[in-house]
Amino acid sequence: MPKVLIGDKLSPAAVEIFHARGIETVTKTGLNTEELIAEIPEYDGLVVRSACKPNADVMAAATNLKVIGRAGIGVDNIDIKAATAKGVVVMNTPFGNAITTAEHAIALMFAAARQIPAANAETQEGKWPKSGYMGTEVSYKTLGLIGCGNIGSRVAERAIGLKMKVAAYDPFLTEERAVELGVEKVELDELLKRADIITLHVPLTDQTKNVLSRENLQKTKEGLILVNCARGGLVDEEAVKDLLESGHIKAAAFDVFAVEPAKENVLFGTKNFIATPHLGAATTEAQENVALQVAEQMADYLLSGAVTNA
Ligand code: MLT
Repeated sequence: MPKVLIGDKLSPAAVEIFHARGIETVTKTGLNTEELIAEIPEYDGLVVRSACKPNADVMAAATNLKVIGRAGIGVDNIDIKAATAKGVVVMNTPFGNAITTAEHAIALMFAAARQIPAANAETQEGKWPKSGYMGTEVSYKTLGLIGCGNIGSRVAERAIGLKMKVAAYDPFLTEERAVELGVEKVELDELLKRADIITLHVPLTDQTKNVLSRENLQKTKEGLILVNCARGGLVDEEAVKDLLESGHIKAAAFDVFAVEPAKENVLFGTKNFIATPHLGAATTEAQENVALQVAEQMADYLLSGAVTNA
């Protein structure tokens, strides 16, 4: 009977699927690298979200491991190179939390455009700051999408429903798909110049790292609203702080940070900055979806060698 280690908190629905398909599971969350190295030899499969980090040392110790399943989209917490060298298949669930993350990006866009968190805090402090908050309408504004894949395209659909114009930078976006979605495909420099609001929806790779560098951020429109629900390393956080302080960026709302968990960050406390703790995929629906998908995919692979998403 194959044995799977569940290394991060996962919906119980996933455990039920593994068991129903004859796969034994052990749940041990919060393991550090040494603990994971000690545990991993006895398992055929490992399920992670983002906290559990199977790195090259863990892979070296993984003598029986056949598959790592990421219940979610980003696989940047897994050493793919080391896993592949060891013949371990890495699979994610690219669709399960796409709607939820798109909704969080839209929520952060509105929170930033109307400064809802600060207004809420001051109102509840009894200050009634009615004249202290002048917001920005999003209708008829240009939303610059960096990345128009599973999540970005869903953000585009919602933004179009809000009467926004959408310009997308994504080397993988075809003209046909852009027309189908109703977005304008543009180069990055064009997007930086034209967008009133920018939101990121790309994975963190060598190609996308620091895509919003200081230099690129300086090319954006005065009064920009910036949303990041993708990955922290995509944006120069120091530069965002400076541009928020100078007023060039009107507001920024980030769900992700260069170092997580972000117990401290250069942006914390900056005026017009909003933070959430990587909640992009945190809905009951999304967590159920990704848990079910990852369990089915891993069971397929472990029991029959079928790869449905790697
Ligand atoms: C993902 O990559 O699926 C999201 O960032 C969600 C997460 O890591 O919790």
